[in-house]
Amino acid sequence: MARITASVYTSHVPAIGAAMDLGKTHEPYWQPVFAGYEFSRQWMKDNTPDVIVLVYNDHANAFSLELIPTFAIGTAAEYTPADEGWGPRPVPKVIGHPELASHIAQSVIQDDFDLTIVNKMDVDHGLTVPLSLMCGRAQAWPCPVIPLAVNVVLYPVPSGKRCWNLGRAIRKAVESYDAPLNVQVWGTGGMSHQLQGPRAGLINKAWDNRFLDRLIDEPATLAEVPHVEYVTEAGSEGIELVMWLIARGAMSDAPPRVRHRFYHVPASNTAVGHLILENT
Ligand code: DHB
Ligand code: FE
Repeated sequence: MARITASVYTSHVPAIGAAMDLGKTHEPYWQPVFAGYEFSRQWMKDNTPDVIVLVYNDHANAFSLELIPTFAIGTAAEYTPADEGWGPRPVPKVIGHPELASHIAQSVIQDDFDLTIVNKMDVDHGLTVPLSLMCGRAQAWPCPVIPLAVNVVLYPVPSGKRCWNLGRAIRKAVESYDAPLNVQVWGTGGMSHQLQGPRAGLINKAWDNRFLDRLIDEPATLAEVPHVEYVTEAGSEGIELVMWLIARGAMSDAPPRVRHRFYHVPASNTAVGHLILENT
């Protein structure tokens, strides 16, 4: 049987990808950001899974106002980095895992979660920046990745509770897959940030750190937090954090082992948060 061994949580911003692609990671602005991922890159080498289920949001690159799936699972064999306006990032294409992805779709849809199935899409910074942070500059990503895209860009967005329960359904799906795969689930986006309007630049360190504490210790009650609180406290783009609850919901019920925790402000307009939790 397949099993989920660990979950990884990390913010994304396009500028992190650009800093890596343009060789700026040692500049004074970026050095403290990347220092927070040095442990993680070694951990990734030591704990390379067979597959990553990578929960992220698309930013109107694969999807658009014409088509807005709340939850979409990638069942394709591969995904190309998206052109977000400056040309595609010079990073490897993402190899999928159609068999496990189709199994998760089957199991989760039969469990009453209406996933959209995507057989062709490009993946934007929401997916490639977390891979870059965790894996560094690579010729190829270390394992197949199943993209799980969540709409947190156009309202209405899914609730934290719905995300948490989807994570639990994904756990059940993975644990019923008949092959001995080591699977990680990653939750990405966040932490506090707001990119537009009078509150542009908003950061809320206290709220972010309390979110990290609660994600570790009391995720089921954290899942009750309504989306309005994310927006009020963590800014309009802080709502990306609901995606972390999918990864956390996929973990076992026993308290996780906290392997790494990092928080830094700022990266571009965003507070960077990062956790590695292992199942015990
Ligand atoms: C930034 C953050 C995001 O989440 C995003 O999708 C785009 C930009 C930023 O802080 O620059
Ligand atoms: Fe974003």
